[in-house]
Amino acid sequence: MPTRILSGIRPTGHIHLGNYLGAIRSWVSMIDQVDERLFCIVDQHALTTAEDAKDLRKNTLTIAAAYIASGIDPVKNHIFVQSHVPYHTELAWYFNCITPMGWLSRMTQFKDKAGKNKDQAMTGLFVYPALMAADILIYKATHVPVGEDQKQHVELTRDIAQAFNNYVNTNIFPLPDPIIKSETARIMSLRDGSKKMSKSDPSDYSRIHLLDDDETIDLKIRKAKTDAEPIPGSAEALGERLEAKNLLSLYSLFTQKSLAEVCLEFEGKQFSEFKPKLASTLIDHLSPIRSTMHELLADEASLLQYLKKGADAANAIACKNMHEIRQSLNMV
Ligand code: AMP
Ligand code: TRP
Repeated sequence: MPTRILSGIRPTGHIHLGNYLGAIRSWVSMIDQVDERLFCIVDQHALTTAEDAKDLRKNTLTIAAAYIASGIDPVKNHIFVQSHVPYHTELAWYFNCITPMGWLSRMTQFKDKAGKNKDQAMTGLFVYPALMAADILIYKATHVPVGEDQKQHVELTRDIAQAFNNYVNTNIFPLPDPIIKSETARIMSLRDGSKKMSKSDPSDYSRIHLLDDDETIDLKIRKAKTDAEPIPGSAEALGERLEAKNLLSLYSLFTQKSLAEVCLEFEGKQFSEFKPKLASTLIDHLSPIRSTMHELLADEASLLQYLKKGADAANAIACKNMHEIRQSLNMV
């Protein structure tokens, strides 16, 4: 069976190092191994939380620029905006009709975002995972590369695919597999090593943004939380020193060295000595991406052209699949 990957990022807040390492960089690494690749900017998902929908246009273009600047060629891959392909929301409706509310109530992202007062939560937030399942299954994607926090949603997508297949008595949808790389599954906050780096953290110092300039990257790394102990000679000896582990892991991810090698390299040193090395490594890697993002954002007409090309290709695949889906439902 041909392989087709689909993944997406919500155009909310500032795109950060967690999105880059957990999602985009891992997509880039698998481009040559799969037959077809779709990378979506999921703007309709951003609307499920009102505070995130500010600056939707600007954020959508920024994510598109981040995809391209990080090495996703918009000619060889389909980069597109979710709302440019209306078949996603149509399929989401069919999925709403076969997905028990109990399945959606168990989603941890819903529980976190809805908070205590679930009755006041918006319906869109509740059915968000059915739209995500539609994003994936409208293309019959076989693999979904994501960070650890999305595992539950991809598992639900499999359950929805199976429920729909049973309902129409045909194996119309594949059961997609999540691809989660353990080294980059959960990049942690720079302020609290027990929390993941996230767009919604109120502190900008908790994360590095892809558009941060060199001075800001340097400052955020200098201010990153650590402890007073020196760096140990082995990864195991890091134990529960979560912030220390996160910073050393970041260095390892950008230098292609193992965590064990990084510990040996800095054994006995203080973080004050390590941090400038980490900052300059990050700057070397991120500043070319940032410059290309600025160039792409300055030429909006070309960026929109790439997105149109992506949407045309995505619409062609989705239209064909939707025809088959409607037929399976006995629609006239
Ligand atoms: P979001 O910003 O929630 O739309 O996330 C987009 C993608 O980035 C998803 O695949 C997430 O799993 C991934 N991601 C977000 N935050 C992190 C993080 N701190 N570490 C690893 N992956 C992340
Ligand atoms: N739910 C994902 C997140 O919060 C974003 C997303 C929406 C997605 N649709 C998708 C990811 C389809 C992968 C595939 O990060």
